Amino acid sequence: MSETARDMQDLYRELVLDHSRNPRHFGRLDDATHTADGINPLCGDKLQLYLRVNTAGEIESSSFEGSGCAISIASASLLTDAVRGLPIAQAQACSTAVTARLTTGDQAIELAANLDKLRALDGVRHYPSRVKCATLAWYALRSALNQDNTPATTE
Ligand code: FES
Repeated sequence: MSETARDMQDLYRELVLDHSRNPRHFGRLDDATHTADGINPLCGDKLQLYLRVNTAGEIESSSFEGSGCAISIASASLLTDAVRGLPIAQAQACSTAVTARLTTGDQAIELAANLDKLRALDGVRHYPSRVKCATLAWYALRSALNQDNTPATTE
């Protein structure tokens, strides 16, 4: 691995650690228009995702709460940062891309240029048993945007 690739990997690892220790946008969003639960039945961890979508169809605000492991919290924190300001269609595409990158390991799957930070989650591929921890919030995002009241599950 080149020095640059190693530096990027270290940077991304630090980013995940930072988001797990200091989760962004943690707490209930009282004026949410879209919500969903995400459950990992293997461990019982559960997250609630809250979005406020405006009349133009853009995500104005986002937050999450719940309990989970460090990876699931970091992933939800990165998600709530990333989706702010995105139109619904772009957030849906983002959910699809992140979950596909995590489950297939195909890093050629494009992320929108302004969502480069989400590459930090690619490192989770090195720990196959943790992939579901990282996808949990992203499945909840898909459910919230589809206004599907069934809890999203990693299974
Ligand atoms: Fe439960 Fe990671 S161990 S979501």
